[in-house]
Amino acid sequence: MAVLTITPFQRRYLRPTRDLLFYSHLVHTHLDWHDTDSWLETQTSPIRLAWQGGRLTGILAFSEPLNHMAWVRLAAVQDYTDHQAVLRALWEAAVDELRERQVRQVALLAIHDWIGRYAPALGFQYVEDIITLARSGPDIPTALPNRLVIRAAEQADLERMAVVDQMAFAPPWQLRLEELQIALCAAASCTVGVLDGTIVGYQLATVYFDGAHLARLAVLPDMQGQGLGGALLGDVIRRFFRRGIFSMTLNTQASNQRSQRLYARYGFRPNGHNLPYWVVTL
Ligand SMILES: CC(C)(COP(=O)(O)OP(=O)(O)OC[C@H]1O[C@@H](n2cnc3c(N)ncnc32)[C@H](O)[C@@H]1OP(=O)(O)O)[C@@H](O)C(=O)NCCC(=O)NCCS
Repeated sequence: MAVLTITPFQRRYLRPTRDLLFYSHLVHTHLDWHDTDSWLETQTSPIRLAWQGGRLTGILAFSEPLNHMAWVRLAAVQDYTDHQAVLRALWEAAVDELRERQVRQVALLAIHDWIGRYAPALGFQYVEDIITLARSGPDIPTALPNRLVIRAAEQADLERMAVVDQMAFAPPWQLRLEELQIALCAAASCTVGVLDGTIVGYQLATVYFDGAHLARLAVLPDMQGQGLGGALLGDVIRRFFRRGIFSMTLNTQASNQRSQRLYARYGFRPNGHNLPYWVVTL
Protein backbone atom coordinates (compact mmCIF):
# COMPACT_ATOMS: atom_id res chain seq x y z
CA MET A 1 0.00 0.00 0.00
CA ALA A 2 1.32 3.49 -0.89
CA VAL A 3 2.35 5.69 2.05
CA LEU A 4 -0.57 7.12 4.00
CA THR A 5 -0.60 10.74 5.09
CA ILE A 6 -3.18 11.96 7.57
CA THR A 7 -4.23 15.63 7.72
CA PRO A 8 -6.97 17.56 9.47
CA PHE A 9 -9.91 18.57 7.28
CA GLN A 10 -9.85 22.03 5.71
CA ARG A 11 -12.48 23.74 3.59
CA ARG A 12 -10.27 23.50 0.51
CA TYR A 13 -10.61 19.71 0.77
CA LEU A 14 -14.39 19.87 0.48
CA ARG A 15 -14.40 18.81 -3.17
CA PRO A 16 -12.31 15.61 -2.83
CA THR A 17 -14.26 14.84 0.34
CA ARG A 18 -17.55 15.17 -1.54
CA ASP A 19 -16.17 12.93 -4.32
CA LEU A 20 -15.06 10.27 -1.85
CA LEU A 21 -18.46 10.28 -0.16
CA PHE A 22 -20.20 10.08 -3.54
CA TYR A 23 -18.13 7.40 -5.27
CA SER A 24 -17.11 5.07 -2.43
CA HIS A 25 -19.29 2.13 -1.44
CA LEU A 26 -17.99 2.27 2.11
CA VAL A 27 -19.61 5.38 3.54
CA HIS A 28 -21.00 5.83 7.02
CA THR A 29 -22.97 9.01 7.67
CA HIS A 30 -24.70 9.59 10.97
CA LEU A 31 -25.46 13.28 10.72
CA ASP A 32 -29.08 13.24 11.89
CA TRP A 33 -30.61 16.47 10.59
CA HIS A 34 -27.52 17.99 8.99
CA ASP A 35 -26.59 17.87 5.33
CA THR A 36 -23.03 16.72 4.81
CA ASP A 37 -21.59 19.86 3.20
CA SER A 38 -22.85 22.32 5.76
CA TRP A 39 -21.91 19.93 8.57
CA LEU A 40 -18.32 19.65 7.29
CA GLU A 41 -18.00 23.40 6.82
CA THR A 42 -19.16 24.30 10.30
CA GLN A 43 -17.37 21.65 12.35
CA THR A 44 -14.77 22.41 14.97
CA SER A 45 -14.74 18.76 16.08
CA PRO A 46 -11.96 16.40 14.97
CA ILE A 47 -12.08 15.49 11.27
CA ARG A 48 -9.18 13.56 9.74
CA LEU A 49 -8.43 12.84 6.09
CA ALA A 50 -6.20 10.04 4.75
CA TRP A 51 -4.22 10.64 1.57
CA GLN A 52 -2.30 8.20 -0.64
CA GLY A 53 -0.23 9.56 -3.52
CA GLY A 54 -2.13 12.84 -3.43
CA ARG A 55 -5.51 11.08 -3.52
CA LEU A 56 -8.06 11.20 -0.74
CA THR A 57 -8.62 7.62 0.44
CA GLY A 58 -10.42 8.05 3.74
CA ILE A 59 -12.22 10.32 6.17
CA LEU A 60 -13.17 9.96 9.82
CA ALA A 61 -15.11 12.66 11.64
CA PHE A 62 -16.60 13.02 15.11
CA SER A 63 -19.33 15.04 16.74
CA GLU A 64 -18.70 17.98 18.99
CA PRO A 65 -18.12 16.31 22.39
CA LEU A 66 -20.86 16.53 25.01
CA ASN A 67 -20.41 15.26 28.56
CA HIS A 68 -17.13 13.51 27.62
CA MET A 69 -18.68 11.53 24.77
CA ALA A 70 -18.51 11.93 21.01
CA TRP A 71 -20.08 10.10 18.06
CA VAL A 72 -18.44 8.85 14.90
CA ARG A 73 -20.45 11.05 12.52
CA LEU A 74 -18.77 10.36 9.22
CA ALA A 75 -16.48 7.62 7.93
CA ALA A 76 -15.57 6.63 4.40
CA VAL A 77 -12.81 4.72 2.65
CA GLN A 78 -12.05 4.42 -1.02
CA ASP A 79 -13.16 1.09 -2.51
CA TYR A 80 -9.73 -0.17 -3.64
CA THR A 81 -7.45 0.26 -0.67
CA ASP A 82 -6.63 -1.49 2.59
CA HIS A 83 -9.77 -0.34 4.41
CA GLN A 84 -8.67 -1.45 7.85
CA ALA A 85 -5.24 0.18 7.57
CA VAL A 86 -6.77 3.48 6.43
CA LEU A 87 -9.38 3.47 9.20
CA ARG A 88 -6.81 2.61 11.85
CA ALA A 89 -4.47 5.38 10.71
CA LEU A 90 -7.35 7.89 10.77
CA TRP A 91 -8.46 6.70 14.19
CA GLU A 92 -4.97 6.85 15.70
CA ALA A 93 -4.48 10.36 14.33
CA ALA A 94 -7.75 11.55 15.90
CA VAL A 95 -7.47 9.93 19.33
CA ASP A 96 -5.05 12.48 20.84
CA GLU A 97 -7.28 15.38 19.90
CA LEU A 98 -10.32 13.57 21.28
CA ARG A 99 -8.49 13.01 24.57
CA GLU A 100 -7.37 16.67 24.67
CA ARG A 101 -11.00 17.62 24.33
CA GLN A 102 -11.82 15.49 27.39
CA VAL A 103 -13.59 12.78 25.40
CA ARG A 104 -13.62 9.55 27.39
CA GLN A 105 -15.84 7.44 25.17
CA VAL A 106 -16.64 7.41 21.47
CA ALA A 107 -19.90 5.91 20.27
CA LEU A 108 -20.72 4.41 16.90
CA LEU A 109 -24.11 3.52 15.48
CA ALA A 110 -23.51 0.95 12.76
CA ILE A 111 -26.13 2.25 10.35
CA HIS A 112 -24.23 0.50 7.56
CA ASP A 113 -22.96 -3.08 8.01
CA TRP A 114 -19.46 -2.40 6.73
CA ILE A 115 -18.49 -0.03 9.54
CA GLY A 116 -19.55 -2.61 12.13
CA ARG A 117 -17.09 -5.08 10.59
CA TYR A 118 -14.18 -2.70 11.26
CA ALA A 119 -15.38 -1.48 14.68
CA PRO A 120 -13.52 -4.19 16.71
CA ALA A 121 -10.24 -3.40 14.92
CA LEU A 122 -10.55 0.20 16.15
CA GLY A 123 -11.15 -0.99 19.72
CA PHE A 124 -14.94 -0.58 19.80
CA GLN A 125 -17.05 -3.00 21.81
CA TYR A 126 -20.59 -3.94 20.96
CA VAL A 127 -23.05 -2.63 23.57
CA GLU A 128 -26.55 -3.39 22.28
CA ASP A 129 -28.93 -2.94 19.36
CA ILE A 130 -30.97 0.14 18.69
CA ILE A 131 -34.32 -1.26 17.65
CA THR A 132 -36.97 0.19 15.37
CA LEU A 133 -40.62 0.10 16.40
CA ALA A 134 -43.46 0.83 14.02
CA ARG A 135 -47.20 1.45 14.34
CA SER A 136 -50.03 2.10 11.95
CA GLY A 137 -53.76 2.55 12.15
CA PRO A 138 -56.10 4.91 13.94
CA ASP A 139 -56.42 3.26 17.39
CA ILE A 140 -54.71 5.02 20.28
CA PRO A 141 -55.42 4.69 23.99
CA THR A 142 -57.00 7.50 25.97
CA ALA A 143 -54.32 9.48 27.80
CA LEU A 144 -54.05 9.04 31.56
CA PRO A 145 -55.60 12.03 33.36
CA ASN A 146 -53.04 14.86 33.45
CA ARG A 147 -52.81 18.66 33.42
CA LEU A 148 -50.26 18.87 30.64
CA VAL A 149 -50.78 21.65 28.08
CA ILE A 150 -49.34 20.58 24.73
CA ARG A 151 -48.48 23.20 22.12
CA ALA A 152 -46.20 23.63 19.11
CA ALA A 153 -42.59 24.35 20.06
CA GLU A 154 -41.13 27.77 19.28
CA GLN A 155 -37.57 29.01 18.89
CA ALA A 156 -37.81 30.59 22.33
CA ASP A 157 -38.43 27.13 23.85
CA LEU A 158 -35.19 25.64 22.57
CA GLU A 159 -33.00 26.36 25.58
CA ARG A 160 -35.48 24.79 27.96
CA MET A 161 -35.99 21.83 25.60
CA ALA A 162 -32.22 21.24 25.63
CA VAL A 163 -32.30 21.19 29.43
CA VAL A 164 -35.14 18.65 29.41
CA ASP A 165 -33.34 16.58 26.77
CA GLN A 166 -30.04 16.52 28.62
CA MET A 167 -31.73 15.63 31.90
CA ALA A 168 -33.89 12.88 30.39
CA PHE A 169 -31.25 11.20 28.23
CA ALA A 170 -27.89 9.80 29.33
CA PRO A 171 -24.73 10.50 27.28
CA PRO A 172 -24.20 10.00 24.34
CA TRP A 173 -27.89 10.27 23.51
CA GLN A 174 -28.30 13.89 24.62
CA LEU A 175 -28.67 16.72 22.11
CA ARG A 176 -26.76 20.00 22.24
CA LEU A 177 -28.74 23.24 21.82
CA GLU A 178 -27.33 23.75 18.29
CA GLU A 179 -28.42 20.25 17.29
CA LEU A 180 -31.91 20.86 18.64
CA GLN A 181 -32.05 24.10 16.68
CA ILE A 182 -31.34 22.25 13.42
CA ALA A 183 -33.70 19.45 14.41
CA LEU A 184 -36.51 21.95 14.96
CA CYS A 185 -36.00 23.34 11.43
CA ALA A 186 -36.16 19.81 9.98
CA ALA A 187 -39.12 18.68 12.11
CA ALA A 188 -42.57 18.03 10.71
CA SER A 189 -43.93 18.24 14.24
CA CYS A 190 -42.34 19.45 17.44
CA THR A 191 -44.41 20.00 20.54
CA VAL A 192 -43.70 20.85 24.14
CA GLY A 193 -45.59 19.70 27.22
CA VAL A 194 -46.12 22.55 29.69
CA LEU A 195 -47.07 22.05 33.33
CA ASP A 196 -47.80 25.10 35.49
CA GLY A 197 -46.05 27.34 32.94
CA THR A 198 -42.87 25.21 32.70
CA ILE A 199 -41.81 22.94 29.85
CA VAL A 200 -41.43 19.45 31.32
CA GLY A 201 -41.30 17.37 28.13
CA TYR A 202 -41.15 17.54 24.37
CA GLN A 203 -41.34 15.44 21.23
CA LEU A 204 -39.87 15.98 17.80
CA ALA A 205 -40.91 14.06 14.67
CA THR A 206 -40.02 14.10 11.00
CA VAL A 207 -41.88 12.88 7.92
CA TYR A 208 -40.47 10.57 5.26
CA PHE A 209 -42.39 9.31 2.23
CA ASP A 210 -45.85 8.73 3.71
CA GLY A 211 -44.87 7.96 7.31
CA ALA A 212 -43.74 9.88 10.36
CA HIS A 213 -40.66 9.16 12.48
CA LEU A 214 -40.62 10.09 16.15
CA ALA A 215 -37.04 11.25 16.59
CA ARG A 216 -37.21 12.43 20.23
CA LEU A 217 -39.52 11.97 23.20
CA ALA A 218 -38.35 13.19 26.58
CA VAL A 219 -39.89 13.99 29.94
CA LEU A 220 -38.01 15.44 32.92
CA PRO A 221 -36.92 12.57 35.17
CA ASP A 222 -38.88 13.73 38.24
CA MET A 223 -42.02 14.15 36.13
CA GLN A 224 -41.91 10.70 34.58
CA GLY A 225 -44.47 7.98 35.31
CA GLN A 226 -47.45 10.36 35.45
CA GLY A 227 -48.76 9.85 31.94
CA LEU A 228 -46.99 12.91 30.44
CA GLY A 229 -44.90 10.95 27.92
CA GLY A 230 -48.06 9.09 26.90
CA ALA A 231 -49.93 12.38 26.51
CA LEU A 232 -47.21 13.82 24.23
CA LEU A 233 -47.10 10.58 22.25
CA GLY A 234 -50.87 10.29 21.78
CA ASP A 235 -51.02 13.95 20.81
CA VAL A 236 -48.36 13.71 18.09
CA ILE A 237 -49.93 10.55 16.65
CA ARG A 238 -53.24 12.44 16.45
CA ARG A 239 -51.57 15.49 14.88
CA PHE A 240 -50.29 13.25 12.08
CA PHE A 241 -53.72 11.61 11.66
CA ARG A 242 -55.09 15.06 10.88
CA ARG A 243 -52.50 15.31 8.09
CA GLY A 244 -53.47 11.90 6.71
CA ILE A 245 -50.39 10.15 8.10
CA PHE A 246 -51.27 6.92 9.88
CA SER A 247 -47.93 5.18 10.27
CA MET A 248 -45.05 6.06 12.54
CA THR A 249 -41.65 4.61 13.39
CA LEU A 250 -39.14 5.32 16.15
CA ASN A 251 -35.85 3.99 17.50
CA THR A 252 -34.97 3.11 21.04
CA GLN A 253 -32.30 1.13 22.86
CA ALA A 254 -33.08 -2.57 23.24
CA SER A 255 -32.39 -2.09 26.97
CA ASN A 256 -34.83 0.85 27.32
CA GLN A 257 -37.67 -1.31 28.60
CA ARG A 258 -39.44 1.64 30.14
CA SER A 259 -39.93 3.45 26.85
CA GLN A 260 -40.84 0.16 25.14
CA ARG A 261 -43.71 -0.49 27.59
CA LEU A 262 -45.12 2.93 26.77
CA TYR A 263 -44.64 2.47 23.03
CA ALA A 264 -46.25 -0.99 23.12
CA ARG A 265 -49.29 0.56 24.79
CA TYR A 266 -49.54 2.95 21.87
CA GLY A 267 -49.38 0.14 19.31
CA PHE A 268 -45.67 0.17 18.40
CA ARG A 269 -44.14 -3.20 17.49
CA PRO A 270 -40.55 -4.15 16.55
CA ASN A 271 -40.11 -4.22 12.77
CA GLY A 272 -36.78 -6.08 12.86
CA HIS A 273 -34.68 -3.17 11.65
CA ASN A 274 -31.95 -3.14 14.29
CA LEU A 275 -28.74 -1.09 14.38
CA PRO A 276 -25.76 -2.25 16.48
CA TYR A 277 -24.43 0.36 18.90
CA TRP A 278 -20.70 0.26 19.73
CA VAL A 279 -18.54 2.17 22.22
CA VAL A 280 -14.80 2.54 22.77
CA THR A 281 -13.29 3.90 25.98
CA LEU A 282 -10.22 6.08 25.41
C1 LIG B 1 -39.82 7.34 27.82
C2 LIG B 1 -40.41 8.56 28.51
C3 LIG B 1 -40.56 9.67 27.51
C4 LIG B 1 -41.76 8.17 29.07
O1 LIG B 1 -42.32 9.32 29.69
P1 LIG B 1 -43.25 9.17 30.98
O2 LIG B 1 -43.86 10.50 31.22
O3 LIG B 1 -42.54 8.53 32.08
O4 LIG B 1 -44.35 8.17 30.39
P2 LIG B 1 -45.79 7.87 30.99
O5 LIG B 1 -45.89 8.35 32.39
O6 LIG B 1 -46.81 8.35 30.03
O7 LIG B 1 -45.80 6.31 30.98
C5 LIG B 1 -45.44 5.63 32.13
C6 LIG B 1 -46.39 4.53 32.43
O8 LIG B 1 -47.75 4.93 32.26
C7 LIG B 1 -48.35 4.11 31.29
N1 LIG B 1 -49.27 4.85 30.45
C8 LIG B 1 -48.94 5.92 29.69
N2 LIG B 1 -50.02 6.29 28.98
C9 LIG B 1 -51.01 5.45 29.32
C10 LIG B 1 -52.38 5.33 28.93
N3 LIG B 1 -52.92 6.15 28.02
N4 LIG B 1 -53.14 4.37 29.49
C11 LIG B 1 -52.61 3.54 30.41
N5 LIG B 1 -51.33 3.59 30.81
C12 LIG B 1 -50.55 4.53 30.28
C13 LIG B 1 -47.20 3.62 30.47
O9 LIG B 1 -47.50 2.47 29.73
C14 LIG B 1 -46.18 3.37 31.51
O10 LIG B 1 -46.54 2.22 32.26
P3 LIG B 1 -45.50 1.17 32.81
O11 LIG B 1 -44.12 1.72 32.62
O12 LIG B 1 -45.87 1.04 34.25
O13 LIG B 1 -45.77 -0.04 32.02
C15 LIG B 1 -39.50 9.03 29.70
O14 LIG B 1 -39.30 7.93 30.54
C16 LIG B 1 -38.17 9.61 29.27
O15 LIG B 1 -38.05 10.80 28.98
N6 LIG B 1 -37.14 8.74 29.25
C17 LIG B 1 -35.78 9.15 28.88
C18 LIG B 1 -35.68 9.44 27.43
C19 LIG B 1 -36.15 8.25 26.61
O16 LIG B 1 -35.78 7.13 26.89
N7 LIG B 1 -36.96 8.53 25.57
C20 LIG B 1 -37.55 7.49 24.74
C21 LIG B 1 -36.55 6.78 23.91
S1 LIG B 1 -36.40 7.52 22.32
